[in-house]
Amino acid sequence: EKGGYEHFMLKEIHEQPNAIKDTLRGRIVNDNEIVLDKVNITKDEIDKIDKIFIVACGTAYHAGVVGKYVIEKFARIPVEVDIASEFRYREPIINKNTLTIVVSQSGETADTIAALKEAKRNGSKVIAITNVVGSSISREADDVIYTWAGPEIAVASTKAYTTQLVALYLIALDLALKKGTIDKEYAKAICDELKQLPDKAKHILDYKDELQEFAANHFNSKDVFYLGRGLDYAVAMEGSLKLKEISYIHSEAYAAGELKHGTLALIEDGTLVIALATQEHLFEKMLSNIREVTTRGGYVLAFAMKGNNQLEGIVEKVLYIPKTMEEVAPIITVIPLQLLAYYMAVEKGCDVDKPRNLAKSVTVE
Ligand code: M6R
Repeated sequence: EKGGYEHFMLKEIHEQPNAIKDTLRGRIVNDNEIVLDKVNITKDEIDKIDKIFIVACGTAYHAGVVGKYVIEKFARIPVEVDIASEFRYREPIINKNTLTIVVSQSGETADTIAALKEAKRNGSKVIAITNVVGSSISREADDVIYTWAGPEIAVASTKAYTTQLVALYLIALDLALKKGTIDKEYAKAICDELKQLPDKAKHILDYKDELQEFAANHFNSKDVFYLGRGLDYAVAMEGSLKLKEISYIHSEAYAAGELKHGTLALIEDGTLVIALATQEHLFEKMLSNIREVTTRGGYVLAFAMKGNNQLEGIVEKVLYIPKTMEEVAPIITVIPLQLLAYYMAVEKGCDVDKPRNLAKSVTVE
């Protein structure tokens, strides 16, 4: 049932090229038209939306953080991302001009269901992104976009996250095209890139051996810091959660610009830092943050976009993300971080598929 893999998590990491392909299938037509069969939001409705909430827990919340950047960039509608257990109790400001997007792999997370109901009760339309057909969330929401990731067994979410990102990009494009905030050529360029991601995701899996070796040398780390700017910051959060969840190594994700506001005090000789530098328009800024770390003796593993060699010789190790548009990079950047967390956990002898204290589906609050 594990298809020859040692753990479900590793199997599911490898299923991502196909899961991404399946989630895209039939949804981009004529180069740049988006077809979301169970989403019935009209141009009229979209024009009235003055705020979008994305609400979810854990990894699905991290997907929402990427969704915020992308929807705001493409559709120019303000987006607030919230943790479901916070949203449901804080009387969020919602009305009929609010659109709420809930994200849940299982479709059964108690807090996310409660948040969905709270949004509906206040007159918001709710679109659900979920992986389980017929789940509570798919039934309660007005509209649904399914992620066709297939069953996810490992507690640590991998292919659900990458397909949630795909779904959020599709929503962002759909809203933007209907609203007229994105030009058709740019939309086509994004669509073309999305279609190439399954292949690129496959290539990035080739880093397996290198990451395994890296993990073998670093699994004794006490603290690991993940740094990034913009979309890389969103991916850093997910990379950090993955590591904590399955390897029990303490880690934190920081927006790299925040370093000097406190975190830099934690960097000492040999501290492991994972620096994400795929966002070309933020590269120079990221480079100075990386220097802040290396100057203090931090040990940096960086991820950069293929073709940009500027980190060579500055950090201990650079791995390259197959060249893609920086807007869609998160979908593939996260994959080596999943592998890194996986191998760290394996090296430590952890129960990778069933980490202590955690359940796959959190159906009680
Ligand atoms: O089924 P859901 O997407 O609603 O689950 C949300 C979280 O419980 C889940 O993503 C959790 O954070 C994962 N174990 C993280 O890998």
